[in-house]
Amino acid sequence: MSLAICPGSFDPVTNGHINIIERTALLFDEVIVLVLINSAKKCAFTADERVNMITKATQNYPNVRVESFDGLLADFAKTSGANTLVKGLRAVTDFEYEFQLSLINKKLNPTLETLLMPTDSKYMYLSSSMVKEVASYGGDIKDFVPFEILTEVKNKLVKDGKN
Ligand code: PNS
Repeated sequence: MSLAICPGSFDPVTNGHINIIERTALLFDEVIVLVLINSAKKCAFTADERVNMITKATQNYPNVRVESFDGLLADFAKTSGANTLVKGLRAVTDFEYEFQLSLINKKLNPTLETLLMPTDSKYMYLSSSMVKEVASYGGDIKDFVPFEILTEVKNKLVKDGKN
């Protein structure tokens, strides 16, 4: 059985993330979408909220499950028996960071491979940070996040009842 992990902060999950998760689910028997908890990073959504939103948005994929983890990704991979990480790559600017992360993870867990999957071109501009900024000013984010979580994301991020 092939198992892959799609790791990330997912604060919040975007349509770009979902595209990578769906494509990974077609390539592997099982996929764990892993929400990493980083106490040094201030997130807009709690880990539970992020897990719940991804669960709603991936409900049509029976081979996808969503978990959260507070620790090193390389350690989670060892415990779960996964040898593959899949991460989306939007542009050259993502590459350096993802490349470095993949090398650190391989150093910590030598059996762990990282596959970098190019984003669908229609999501090249999309990031969780952009979603948060647009939403906070009352901008329309319906093309940016899955429809199942649109209201929840807006309710959390829209300032002063705009929108
Ligand atoms: O969505 P992101 O923010 O690009 O994802 C980065 C993430 C969460 C995958 C990365 O920061 C991570 O793996 N964090 C867990 C701690 C860890 O294992 N760090 C790598 C060694 S420094």
